[in-house]
Amino acid sequence: MASVRRFTCGPMLRFTILPRRIYYRMDKTYGTFCGKHCNLQICPACLSRQNNKHSPLNFQPINSAPLSTLSVTTSFSTSKQIQCRRRISTNHMKEAFTLQNSYKLIEEEFSTLTEDIKKLTSSDKLELQNIAHYHLDGHGKSIRPMTVMLMAKTCNYHHTYDDSSILHPQRVIAMISEMIHTASLIHDDVIDMSDIRRGKPTVKALWGERKAILAGNFILSQASSALANLQNEYVVTVISGVIEDLVKGEFMQLGSKEDENERFNHYLKKTFKKTASLIANSCKAVAILGNCCEDVIDIAYNYGRNIGLTFQLIDDILDFVSCDKIMGKPTTADLKLGLATAPVLFAAQEYPELHPMIMRRFSQIGDVRRARDLVAKSDGVTQARILAEQHAKEAVRMIQQLKTSSSQQALIHLVKFILDRKK
Ligand code: IPE
Ligand code: IPE
Ligand code: MG
Ligand code: MG
Repeated sequence: MASVRRFTCGPMLRFTILPRRIYYRMDKTYGTFCGKHCNLQICPACLSRQNNKHSPLNFQPINSAPLSTLSVTTSFSTSKQIQCRRRISTNHMKEAFTLQNSYKLIEEEFSTLTEDIKKLTSSDKLELQNIAHYHLDGHGKSIRPMTVMLMAKTCNYHHTYDDSSILHPQRVIAMISEMIHTASLIHDDVIDMSDIRRGKPTVKALWGERKAILAGNFILSQASSALANLQNEYVVTVISGVIEDLVKGEFMQLGSKEDENERFNHYLKKTFKKTASLIANSCKAVAILGNCCEDVIDIAYNYGRNIGLTFQLIDDILDFVSCDKIMGKPTTADLKLGLATAPVLFAAQEYPELHPMIMRRFSQIGDVRRARDLVAKSDGVTQARILAEQHAKEAVRMIQQLKTSSSQQALIHLVKFILDRKK
């Protein structure tokens, strides 16, 4: 492997969209690279299926582990099956992983989480309390508190060789992460005019928009109060930035970029703010609270950032390929809301007629159906999946830099769970 070059930049992809093709430049690397295939600085067709030699699959994991085969199958409702079979590192992902396996590692700290969150959001205004508790019932996937607790254990072990316990302030961050997440969902269902969440009516559907906004605000206020009680200025700054990001992300989603070249960057920036910032900064907060050094804090943040981006990319794919029953929330919703997510943005490279539709937010009669058909015909879903996998790999690369422990292994498995989740 004399020609393998190692790139030393960090994990940021920059996209330039020109008519018919997306150019992306790796400002920061995802691993070592077999240099004989393309120049990394500007790699014109990495995301293009026509030119396999430029495929990002030429990238190899930083630890040079042998590659094994992973079969990726997505389905387009029942009508279209897209299959892509590719070489990808799965060595770290061999064992069967379920959330329950990870749950066992943090069972003690996790078991009373919902109860404790309910205590934090109790109120003498009974209706307000009932609305606030409606989705704080522990029936979500609890990805965020689970990630945060596993990260706390991983950081504690890395720092002290003791992962037996999670510090109280770290557990509070896990609670806060689920509270901010839940409040954002209650608000998001107002913005998205959605009536179903987790297989049951949304707060907005049951109590109306005004009470949904107020209940979301109430949960955020209680989360802020719990944050302030930690009396750690650094952590307060880190977590309060999340709420700002959430608002900015939802705001960015209300607009479209006229310039095609800017659209993909706008989408990624929005995705970070709307979804990844919460996970990234919660992971960062527990590393800070574990007295970790700056390097470890950065690793925790970048792990969270990359699983957050993976998570939303998969959510955006599932909106096209899954159904309401499995997801417990409306699917094929994004186009109707005027949103051009990754599958559409990639599809527009093959079918430029999507550009004016994106610009008018699919508002003309027939736009949604036509756009959906074009996405189905294109390899937009596959390319969005490839991008999700790149962020997943980067998350694994990050966490592998910390000392091996059962919680660190669980964080590696969690990446695969997020990548392959069906709901
Ligand atoms: C849904 O998040 C919102 C997104 C960021 C896509 P989850 O899918 O984690 O929601 P729950 O908590 O499990 O319902
Ligand atoms: C994620 O966006 C919601 C937040 C992060 C607030 P979506 O609008 O895609 O989430 P779902 O699909 O409604 O769960
Ligand atoms: Mg939504
Ligand atoms: Mg969605």
